[in-house]
Amino acid sequence: MIVCVCKSVSERQIKACLDAGATTMEDLQIDLGVALCCGKCGPYVQEMVSGATPCCGRSCGGCCQSAQAETPAAEVVRRELALAA
Ligand code: FES
Repeated sequence: MIVCVCKSVSERQIKACLDAGATTMEDLQIDLGVALCCGKCGPYVQEMVSGATPCCGRSCGGCCQSAQAETPAAEVVRRELALAA
């Protein structure tokens, strides 16, 4: 199933990326380019990220993920996105 229509990224590709070690939305944006165009796939991709990583078990909205260490590449993308906004 295609999750990101803008970048033609499938659910299988996202799962493979998560299995290979991606742990954040930013990792998937860097590796696959998801959620960087119209953004409509963002919530679904975030759910996939949340399901692949341990969480606090509450409806935290991703607090556990935001507490994870950010990779240097993800930090660069975050800065570039902030500059583009
Ligand atoms: S559907 Fe993923 S950015 Fe548009």
